[in-house]
Amino acid sequence: MYIIFFLLPWLLIGLGVLAVGFRGPGGPRQLMAGTSAGFKLLMLVIYLGVGLTVPAIVLANRGKAEGATNHLQTVVPSAQVQKGKTLFRATCASCHTLAAVNARGVIGPDLDRIGTMTPARVLSAIRIGGTGQNRMPAGLLQGSNAAAVAAFVSAVAGK
Ligand code: HEC
Repeated sequence: MYIIFFLLPWLLIGLGVLAVGFRGPGGPRQLMAGTSAGFKLLMLVIYLGVGLTVPAIVLANRGKAEGATNHLQTVVPSAQVQKGKTLFRATCASCHTLAAVNARGVIGPDLDRIGTMTPARVLSAIRIGGTGQNRMPAGLLQGSNAAAVAAFVSAVAGK
């Protein structure tokens, strides 16, 4: 919904440019009178390019902002993922790096960079403690809390 407020100024600028361009003799039109047709075409392409491409890229990428702290976040995470985010901050962020919550822990691996984070992999890491070599404490969370963190991490890690 908030994306409208971001797009509206671009739309208005685009419409304004069109209005100026199509106005009758006089005014800004004379400013452009000496310029070649090719230059005018170039300007049109640039305006359309910026006005359409930038919002299109933002729209196309908004799914990636799920659960993130980004101010352009548009996807509202489920209650479970939200709970997992809170639990991750409290329980895991001290040891792990995860960009989605600005976690910068260095004792454990960077969860954005160690391959695909499936919920099962995270659940297993919580249950047995990492890969089971006694380097990460086992059983930090149980049941629905562990599941919530697994859902959250798998949704945001590496994105
Ligand atoms: C005391 C520090 C510490 C805490 C707290 C901690 N971890 Fe870890 N974690 C580690 C270390 C160290 C490793 C690497 C050791 C290993 O892979 O066995 C690791 C590994 C992992 C891995 C990678 C396992 C794999 O498949 O390679 C995942 C996923 C993980 N942790 C998730 C979590 C989650 C989720 C939490 C919060 C519930 C958490 N960790 C809390 C230290 C920690």
